[in-house]
Amino acid sequence: MCGIFAYMNYRVPRTRKEIFETLIKGLQRLEYRGYDSAGVAIDGNNNEVKERHIQLVKKRGNVKALDEELYKQDSMDLKVEFETHFGIAHTRWATHGVPNAVNSHPQRSDKGNEFVVIHNGIITNYKDLRKFLESKGYEFESETDTETIAKLIKYVFDNRETEDITFSTLVERVIQQLEGAFALVFKSIHYPGEAVATRRGSPLLIGVRSKYKLSTEQIPVLYRTRNIENVKNICKTRMKRLDSSTCLHAVGDKAVEFFFASDASAIIEHTNRVIFLEDDDIAAVADGKLSIHRVKRLASDDPSRAIQTLQMELQQIMKGNFSAFMQKEIFEQPESVFNTMRGRVNFETNTVLLGGLKDHLKEIRRCRRLIVIGCGTSYHAAVATRQVLEELTELPVMVELASDFLDRNTPVFRDDVCFFISQSGETADTLLALRYCKDRRALTVGVTNTVGSSISRETDCGVHINAGPEIGVASTKAYTSQFISLVMFGLMMSEDRISLQNRRREIIHGLKSLPELIKEVLSLDEKIHDLALELYTQRSLLVMGRGYNYATCLEGALKIKEITYMHSEGILAGELKHGPLALIDKQMPVIMVIMKDPCFAKCQNALQQVTARQGRPIILCSKDDTESSKFAYKTIELPHTVDCLQGILSVIPLQLLSFHLAVLRGYDVDFPRNLAKSVTVE
Ligand code: F6R
Repeated sequence: MCGIFAYMNYRVPRTRKEIFETLIKGLQRLEYRGYDSAGVAIDGNNNEVKERHIQLVKKRGNVKALDEELYKQDSMDLKVEFETHFGIAHTRWATHGVPNAVNSHPQRSDKGNEFVVIHNGIITNYKDLRKFLESKGYEFESETDTETIAKLIKYVFDNRETEDITFSTLVERVIQQLEGAFALVFKSIHYPGEAVATRRGSPLLIGVRSKYKLSTEQIPVLYRTRNIENVKNICKTRMKRLDSSTCLHAVGDKAVEFFFASDASAIIEHTNRVIFLEDDDIAAVADGKLSIHRVKRLASDDPSRAIQTLQMELQQIMKGNFSAFMQKEIFEQPESVFNTMRGRVNFETNTVLLGGLKDHLKEIRRCRRLIVIGCGTSYHAAVATRQVLEELTELPVMVELASDFLDRNTPVFRDDVCFFISQSGETADTLLALRYCKDRRALTVGVTNTVGSSISRETDCGVHINAGPEIGVASTKAYTSQFISLVMFGLMMSEDRISLQNRRREIIHGLKSLPELIKEVLSLDEKIHDLALELYTQRSLLVMGRGYNYATCLEGALKIKEITYMHSEGILAGELKHGPLALIDKQMPVIMVIMKDPCFAKCQNALQQVTARQGRPIILCSKDDTESSKFAYKTIELPHTVDCLQGILSVIPLQLLSFHLAVLRGYDVDFPRNLAKSVTVE
């Protein structure tokens, strides 16, 4: 989805060039979220009150294209110094309107750029709002839902009842008219050096940096005393008194910088001190002081927002020596799976402790069923572990695609336990499914990779998979860590089951050796590259298997289709005779995952059926499997592990294969067309 980045320097002199560099770097870190166009809004001169002017620069293409465009602008003196300045920037992934400069953000209120706004999300009632504003004479120039917000704030401003209305009051009135999801940051010529940011359903956080002591570690949330019903009825509202104790600032009005971003990767190189905004928070910076307010106070509201210290390091999110983030992340898996288990699996005592779940274990053991919900790769992690979860928990386990789960209005009961698997912790469908289950009073458990994400905050309890930041749009290390997290949960649930002790020991032993076995699989990279050389001109690639490795096929096929744009299908070998067999001929490459597990004999049958139709199977099999390789066109031999963990090893060759295929086909591996890392709209 789109990426938001904004930067305010308060009493920290910065040249225009430095401001550009900060904004561009922030956008580059967010590029993985969406990348069809980008734009910035900055002050057009040195904030001389009489000549206030906001300059917009927008460009179709990636952030590099915007960067080049900025330096082409003759009107902008790069050496001009601003003591205080607020710049906003955006990378867009189109939802309404084609990618072009007019549709990209910032969107503006009018030709004079009185108000400009950047937005991540979707406004579902924008057509009604647009109709209303057009009836009032406001002229629209783009096809976006976001432009409605820019026009609406101008409408509220033009119809203000007092001259001294604050910027945050305007925004408050605007968001009460909005339906849908948004993270928004506003800038205005009427409020120079001020910023307002807000969110509902889309993530937004604020970083703060100062060499002076900060006034507080907890920012108290202020509440309005009245509500507004509709845009035509702009009534007076009053906020609790704003004073120094309710604001965050550098003590003594000293220099301070604020960074606003859709996620921490854009902020972390400047500061690790951040505030995560909650839905409907309105954060405003004026005179270098940050305050947060809300319209309504709900009983469940936390009365303050803490300044948190992020542990993430920049080098964690850099590419290192790899040519793409995806490649780096594939090769990180020996460490990332180790980090997922670290401090949780005790290999001496054969026990597992997931701190975030331990207080809820009794309740989970008593539940009616487990429902595991996710999208894409995260859903595949649920499919991959369903069988072992059923075995270890002795509970019925449903696995659900979040969108379909919602479409069906699936019955959920208060004695259900619902797991939400999400790397980003922000996927809209998964988040909506979470809220749906919460409304039905089920216990909700988050399995996410992003501390502070909406899913990790809104669930009753959860597990952080600790895979480290995943930047490549195609998810790799998050999958293996989600897989292990779910297996660990099963192990924790089965600790007191006498009949399962041998099985538990076997699995825990298997977990211990995984990092080394993953290294062994990664050493096959060259062989897999050679295979890619043979396959990269093909149009289609089938991936077939069953049992524990059905999920491997789904996930492998997803990786292939999303970054190589080849048609690829994950096929359950048990379904072969019911249709897919018709696709098999001499030309069709088919990868078969055949492991030494309870499905081995059945997979051999499928292999016979494929070879009988002159198919040329490329077989992923165990090192000690002499049988399958006899019929193989090509073989990739993998180390053997416990059946229920084998999927972690067998998916890695497919991750590598998709990577090499995409490179050979000339595609940008980290930024596949039409896709974004964090899908924060339905
Ligand atoms: C595929 C991929 C997507 C995500 C899906 C859910 O490589 O990355 O299928 O898995 O969009 O995202 P999260 O896990 O962030 O909820």
